[in-house]
Parts: sequence; C-alpha cells; structure tokens
Amino acid sequence: MVSYKELGLVNTREMFAKAIKGGYAIPAFNFNNMEQLQAIIKAAAETKSPVILQVSKGARAYANPTLLRYMAQGAVAYAKELGWEKPEIVLHLDHGDSFELCKDCIDLGFSSVMIDGSALPYEENIALSKKVADYAHQYDVTVEAELGVLAGVEDEVQAEESHYTRPEEVIDFSKRTGCDSLAISIGTSHGAYKFKPEQCTRDPKTGRLVPPPLAFDVLDAIMEQLPGFPIVLHGSSSVPQEYVDMINQYGGKLPDAVGIPEEQLRKAAKSAVCKINIDSDSRLAFTAAVRKVFAEKPGEFDPRKYCGPARDLMEQLYKHKIINVLGSDGKAC
Ligand code: G3H
Ligand code: 13P
Ligand code: ZN
Repeated sequence: MVSYKELGLVNTREMFAKAIKGGYAIPAFNFNNMEQLQAIIKAAAETKSPVILQVSKGARAYANPTLLRYMAQGAVAYAKELGWEKPEIVLHLDHGDSFELCKDCIDLGFSSVMIDGSALPYEENIALSKKVADYAHQYDVTVEAELGVLAGVEDEVQAEESHYTRPEEVIDFSKRTGCDSLAISIGTSHGAYKFKPEQCTRDPKTGRLVPPPLAFDVLDAIMEQLPGFPIVLHGSSSVPQEYVDMINQYGGKLPDAVGIPEEQLRKAAKSAVCKINIDSDSRLAFTAAVRKVFAEKPGEFDPRKYCGPARDLMEQLYKHKIINVLGSDGKAC
C-alpha cells in the first residue's frame, strides 16, 4: 500500500471547497507522457494554480502503473524545484470502470478516483459508487461519481437531451453513494467532435460551426438540489480553431471539429462546477506542433525537436486555461 500523502499529493476535498467559495474551477488535465506532465506542472507552478493530474484506464496501461506513481512523485518534486513551495497536486483516476481498478489505484498512491457507473442502471450505479467510496474513504481518498450520460459523437440530439443528469435524482444519489463530487451531463461530450454539424449553426462570416449552448438550466436545478456540492464537468475541451487549422494546414484531416466555447466554461467555473476536464485540447496542441515540425523540417528525426515544441504549445494552452478560462491562478501558494 502506497499512501498518496507519502508522495506529496493531496486529495480534492479542500481544493473543491475553496473553488466553490471563490467562484473558480480546478483544471483536471489528462496526461500519459512525460512532455504533457512537464507542461502541466510548469503551467501550474508558474501560475500557482492547484491542479488535478488525470489518468484514464488506457493512459495507465500505456504509461505503466508503477512508473506513473513515480512520475506523480517526481511531479511534486519538480513543482517545488520550480519555486512552488506547497504544491497542490492531485493524482486522479479518470473514468474508473470497476471497483478493482479504483482499489488498485488507491493502493498505488492515487489521491482521488472517479468511479464511472453512469452507463449502469441507477441502483447499480449507486451500489458500485458506494462500494468505491467506502473503500476510498478509509484512506482519505476522494471519490467522483457520475450521474447522467455524456453524449457520444454518434448520438442523436434527442438521445443527448434524454441523457442529461436528472436533478430530481442528485440528492438521493450523492447521499447513498457518499461520493465527494458529482460529474454531470449538461451537453458536453468527449473528443474533438462534440456536436454534429446539424446540431450547430454556422457563423456567416467565418463559415465555422457554432455549437448549441450547454443546459445551464439543468445545472441550476442541480445546484438548487445540492447547494455547495462539488460538480464536475467532463468533455470540456474547446477545440481551439487555431490548432485545428494548423493540423489541417500541415497534412491532417479534422473537418468540422467543434468544442465547448470558452465563455460557457467561464460561466460554469463561477458556479458550483469546481473541476473541469480537459484532454482533447492538449492532444490537438501536441499534434499541431508535431505536424508543423514534420512539414517544415522533413529531415528532422530527433524526437526532442518535435516533442519540445509540442510541450511548449501545451504549456501555453494550460496557462491560458488556468488564467483566462478557469480562474484558478494564484489560488495555491
Ligand atoms: O474521458 C476520456 C479521456 O479523454 C481519456 O481518454 O481513454 O483515450 O485515454 P482515453
Ligand atoms: P475532452 O475530450 O473534452 O478533453 O474531455 C476530457 C474528459 O472529460 C476526460 O475525462
Ligand atoms: Zn471524461
């Protein structure tokens, strides 16, 4: 058993309480390689922002669980080296799909886990989430559970709406599971194609897709039921047009990629939404920078020469999110 406390990590409890009071959100950035981790830590340390390092099941398998633990420990040491006296860094399992996976992560130094039972029938979701929360809380590890289903890219508009979190269920769900935060569905979705073109309008000037707004009425109703309870938004990449353009310019093919407009995330961050998940934007930045080097310097074969610019662009992206979208800069000393 490795305690996250020994690794210098923190859980989300205090972080979320402060974020709700302060009207900002904590960035939850996914990572699975060294360059992403370096960029996240540098951005968080230089802006003094609390940060959640998020690892999916696939990322954990990709990076190796043991190596990951040391990477997280290294991240804390690196943050201190960068002048961040008391780093507020969480190591979080993203979309845990079983009790065993969550337990494994808790036993190996994660300070927070998500149990995603959102695809299960309501009672089964409650039973699984409670089992994880009961185990996690013995070790002071915090637990995120999910209610409502995020739309997949293939889903129809109607199906999407019917999968929104039902505000009338959130009190019962949070009480019976004992979860510390609740991921909800209000119209965000994963990936770089969050909406189909027919769900959007087109900006007549640029010809670009304008997505439909998030269901803030559902968020309001949830907050009314659970005042002050930490809410999490998944699928919150904005799919910056500049990265999509760069990728397409340098040989990629991402037609009609569309994300969540930043002004909507800014609005959410001011509410009880205190954790905002971003993965795809970092993937886009990485890919855009690498494609540019490959296109401009076809003779280059030193990975540092293309992973380095990718790291720089991701760092810029993370800082932008922290300062201009989530408002978490300066919130950790
Ligand atoms: O929510 C999903 C995250 O973007 C992680 O994706 O399973 O491809 O690592 P992944
Ligand atoms: P994006 O695909 O919008 O970056 O969402 C990431 C996410 O929700 C990870 O859990
Ligand atoms: Zn997610």
